Amino acid sequence: MADTQRTLIFIKPDGVRRNLTGEIIQRFERRGIRVVGLKKIHPSRELAEQHYSVHRERPFFSSVVEFITSGPVVAMVLECPNAIEVTRGMMGATNPAQSPPGTIRGDFGLDIEQNIIHGSSDPEAAAYEIPLWFKPDELVG
Ligand code: CMP
Repeated sequence: MADTQRTLIFIKPDGVRRNLTGEIIQRFERRGIRVVGLKKIHPSRELAEQHYSVHRERPFFSSVVEFITSGPVVAMVLECPNAIEVTRGMMGATNPAQSPPGTIRGDFGLDIEQNIIHGSSDPEAAAYEIPLWFKPDELVG
């Protein structure tokens, strides 16, 4: 079996407001993915800006920071072999219009900004994002 890998996921304020949290976590669990960290938090501006710092120069930066801080999110660390690739496949494309039915964004989203869920894009992003959101003692393997 491939080595396990961890990824940082959060259900964005639109997904939480629409009560999709349970449905989304259930999809991951039924796939066999382990939840090693889980919490509901209202992100600070500082956390949001740090999280999206790679996009600081992009035109959508201030808008996405505004959106992510508009209400609570449900953040989690998920673990399984090839966790980043597996969860990205389950989430679908960033733009829900390009996400097929059966994916989380393809089933629940229409808006490229309010796109229900975030997941680390690659191992470097996961290594940056996991300690940003979770203290080591909040992760239970
Ligand atoms: P996410 O995976 O959380 O990472 C960056 C976020 O910026 C992205 O999902 C979208 O929600 C948001 N965003 C808004 N506009 C764009 C855009 N034009 N391209 C990429 N991401 C965008």
